[in-house]
Amino acid sequence: MREFKIERKVKRVKGELRVPSDKSISHRAVIFGALARGRTVVHSWLRSEDTLATLNILKALGTEVLEDNTRLEIEGRNYTFEEPSNVLDAKNSGTTARLMLGVLSTQPFFSTLTGDESLRRRPMLRVVEPLRKMGARIDGRENGNKLPLSVRGGELKGISFFNKKASAQVKSSLIIAGLRAEGMTEVSEPVLSRDHTERMLRSFGVKLISVPEERGHLIKVRGGQELRGTEVYCPADPSSSAFPLALAVLTEGSELLLRDVLVNPTRDGFFRKLREMGAELTYENEREFSGEPVADILVRGSGRLKAVKVYPEEVPSMVDEIPILAVVMALAEGRSEVRGAKELRVKESDRIRAVVENLRAMGVEVEEYEDGFSIEGNERLKGACIKTYGDHRIAMAFSVAGLLAEGETVIDDIDCVKVSYPGFFEDLESVVEYL
Ligand code: S3P
Repeated sequence: MREFKIERKVKRVKGELRVPSDKSISHRAVIFGALARGRTVVHSWLRSEDTLATLNILKALGTEVLEDNTRLEIEGRNYTFEEPSNVLDAKNSGTTARLMLGVLSTQPFFSTLTGDESLRRRPMLRVVEPLRKMGARIDGRENGNKLPLSVRGGELKGISFFNKKASAQVKSSLIIAGLRAEGMTEVSEPVLSRDHTERMLRSFGVKLISVPEERGHLIKVRGGQELRGTEVYCPADPSSSAFPLALAVLTEGSELLLRDVLVNPTRDGFFRKLREMGAELTYENEREFSGEPVADILVRGSGRLKAVKVYPEEVPSMVDEIPILAVVMALAEGRSEVRGAKELRVKESDRIRAVVENLRAMGVEVEEYEDGFSIEGNERLKGACIKTYGDHRIAMAFSVAGLLAEGETVIDDIDCVKVSYPGFFEDLESVVEYL
């Protein structure tokens, strides 16, 4: 655990950044590459602790991968893996655990999946229950809710599953399993969650039916379809972009260009919310890469922003950005509120608690709800001791807060940023000007 001290205040941000590639897309690129028939080439792959956890599990299942830094060549195994000789470790990564449970459920062998202390506390029944209904045998603590979980998969049948909460991890896990199940698999959710699985599977030649419904969204997939190896380009991660971008919108005179950012509408809620708060933020050079919309984002800092509300149906499009949005809210004018974000309590840490506690330490008036918080915007933050709970997004959000605060801020553990954004501090350092 490495501590980080922030002693100087940022005046403004100037320059250009290409932040690391999207984590969700990078996980999927290697998983689908391994599931496909033939070779898949992945460009600009995110090399971070989370995505390496996925890659190492695929290798432990017999997948051959040629690695040249961020370019990968994956020899697809067409859904036929080898029984692993050891426990598979998803480390800190919920996406690895949930998507790999879908993969392992299609395999007729025994495997055990575990994770780090944080992941072993997170709920898995949301995928375990429907995968069991499809025919997989899964067991573990709390009747299969917590890792380590043992899986014996095999003959699956399609199911119709209504997911009460929008979750791309659940949807993706069931689609992966559904592709090897008998008949149709249907997954519906109250709001469309990030749709990278659907977009990417189409580029692997899979046919999916996507039906917008009056109250939510339905995806159908027929079992028995093969994935054909392809090329995938991974754009810059909007969730990682959110940190330098927040620093720029909060400092007058800033100008920052973020290149190649994924602006998929199921992911860009944070950028839209910032505009609603009065930020000057534009998408330039809009284009498409591997079926995903990408743009360069230009932001100019223009002093104080206005308070804003986040409604439950908006949460999925900014779910990982809520901690940094809370920091922006703390410096905006008026009372802001986030509701319908109970899922944040079961992320890498209890993010509602972590946000409330750390903002209070910085002198902000915050009210905590079971499903969110309200924040009284302030003109200044005071330096404080920040507890990250080993959560990368809390570490990065409060590093930004620390750079804007009066006095010293100490972040108790910054190593966790490697989970999604190795090079975070170096990137910030390259664009900030201090007072
Ligand atoms: C992810 C989906 C989201 C998100 C997570 C990555 C994915 O989780 O919070 O960081 O890649 O599918 P849920 O699907 O559980 O909301």
